[in-house]
Parts: sequence; C-alpha cells; structure tokens
Amino acid sequence: MNPALAGLSREGLSLKGAQAWAQALGLDRLDAQLLLLQVMGRSEGDRAWLLAHDTDPMNPAQAAGFEHLCRRRLTGEPVAYLLGRKEFWGLDLTVDARVLVPRPDTETLVAWALEVLETCGGRRVLDLGTGSGAIALALAHARPGLQVEAVDQSAEALAVARANGERLGLAVTWRQASWLDGAPAGLDLIVSNPPYIAAQDPHLAALTHEPLAALASGEDGLDDLRTIVAAAPGHLVAGGWLLLEHGWDQAESVRALLAQAGFEGVGSRHDLGGHARCSGGRWPGKTAGAAGSGAAGPRAEG
Ligand SMILES: C[S@@+](CC[C@H](N)C(=O)[O-])C[C@H]1O[C@@H](n2cnc3c(N)ncnc32)[C@H](O)[C@@H]1O
Repeated sequence: MNPALAGLSREGLSLKGAQAWAQALGLDRLDAQLLLLQVMGRSEGDRAWLLAHDTDPMNPAQAAGFEHLCRRRLTGEPVAYLLGRKEFWGLDLTVDARVLVPRPDTETLVAWALEVLETCGGRRVLDLGTGSGAIALALAHARPGLQVEAVDQSAEALAVARANGERLGLAVTWRQASWLDGAPAGLDLIVSNPPYIAAQDPHLAALTHEPLAALASGEDGLDDLRTIVAAAPGHLVAGGWLLLEHGWDQAESVRALLAQAGFEGVGSRHDLGGHARCSGGRWPGKTAGAAGSGAAGPRAEG
C-alpha cells in the first residue's frame, strides 16, 4: 500500500515526516506547512520555527488533527477556512464557509478607494456585499475618520463581518439589505466586490466550498453589477465615486455600463496579475435623464 494513503496517527512521527506525508498525498508545501503550524498552535508566520524543529515529534492527537485538515484540503476546501482566518490589508479576519475568502486582488479596490477619498475629501462610504467585512474594515482601519456602512443580503455573512469589526475594534455600521435598497443619499463613495461569475462558468465547479450567492451572477456574470450601476447615482453626491471589482474579462463591459449611466472619468485599475479587475467612475450630479452623454469616455489605466 502507498504509505501516503495510510493514516498518519503514529507514535513519534516528526514534523518533517508529517510534512513529507502531506506532500506525498498531493498537498502544496506551503499549505502543508500552514496546516502543520495550525495543529502545533503556532502562528502562520512561524515557518522558520518549523524548519528549526523539523525533528520534533508530534503527539497522536496532533498527528490526527493534521491528517484531518489535510484530507479536507484535498477536497478543495480553502486553507483560509481550515485555519479560520485570512489576512486582508494587514488585518487578521476570521472567515468560514459563510463568507467568501477575501482575495489579495481586492486590495486593488481598497487602494483605489483610499486614493479617491483623499482626492475628494469625502467621508461617507458604503461597501456593498461586504462578506467578511474585508473592504469596509480595511477602509475604516486606514482612515479612522470615515463613516463606513456595509451591507450584505446574507445574515450569516453579516454575523461574520460584525464579529470581525468588534474583534478589531473598528466602527462600521452593518445592515442587511439587497444592494442599495434602503441606502442613504449623499454618499461620497460606493465600493463593491459583488458576485460576477457567469452561472455556467466551469470555474464555479472548483469553488464549491464558498457560498454560491457570493460568486455567481446571471448568464453573463453582470446581473449584480448592472443593478448596482443603475441604482448608485441616486445615492451619490455630485462628484461621488462608484468603484467596482469585476472579472478579468469584464472591464470593458463594466466601463460601458458606467459611461451609459452617466458616470464621468470612467477608468479601470489592474490587479496583481496585471488584469483590469476594478472599474469606476465619478457621478457628476446630473439627473438620470442626462445619462449616456459619454462625457470624457471610458479609459483603462494602470
Ligand atoms: C464576491 S463576495 C465579496 C465579499 C467581500 N466584499 C470581499 O471582497 O471579500 C459578494 C458578496 O455579495 C453578497 N451579495 C450577493 N447578493 C447580494 C445582494 N443582492 N445584496 C447584497 N449583498 C449581496 C454575498 O452574500 C457576498 O457576501
């Protein structure tokens, strides 16, 4: 029998032996190390400790715990769920299957939002589809004077977000709603990372552990983006901004939606992989009847 398929709960197994077992089973080296640190009660940053202690023995409970986590990982469960946390914008967020795991690419949206707020001097911000609270909490952390409100349709997601806010001591107002329903007027910035995967996209098959309501959005993936773009003008001050994350191949479509709705200064920002993954524009304060003037026209930028 392949030793990798055998159970791991053996007396005297070393940390190095456990890691080798996990890799033989098919786990990435980094994933195996993070799960090993978890069962050993060490922090994620302690990988050097693992090297220095690689001959240390594990007790049977630690070995069994490690094996359990490895087998869950092999079914595609995100490491962040197995660890129960994910770092985002330098904040340690608690995450579980009730929320999307915050992605590093979404930090592009946060960076753009902070730039916009710096330029326009605005303070009233709304995060739509907050999930774990990642964007709202990052903004509240980076700019303590902001008034940040965050909504999600999922009560379960909001419970995770609220707990993150309380643990981190960051003041955000949490509200359960569908997109801009019941949202106030006079906002300086609306920011959102909504679901944007096409319902039939084969990539969804690899994301079965995360909530489908956080991922899929209609036939072309743009249903929720359309809803938000259409409703946002009624809630922004003149000169207020709408910034949206979207799929790597949706920038042109989202810029067109924004321009057609009457947003100006429409442009996109690139994620860490070089894809145009966020698009946004400034609401000039015209009535919706003036929409479609095209203004300065959409543009892509780094
Ligand atoms: C892609 S996830 C983004 C989560 C988080 N903002 C992030 O960046 O990690 C989209 C979120 O939108 C929420 N959502 C889906 N439909 C919604 C709706 N109609 N109104 C409000 N939130 C919605 C989902 O529950 C999910 O938390």
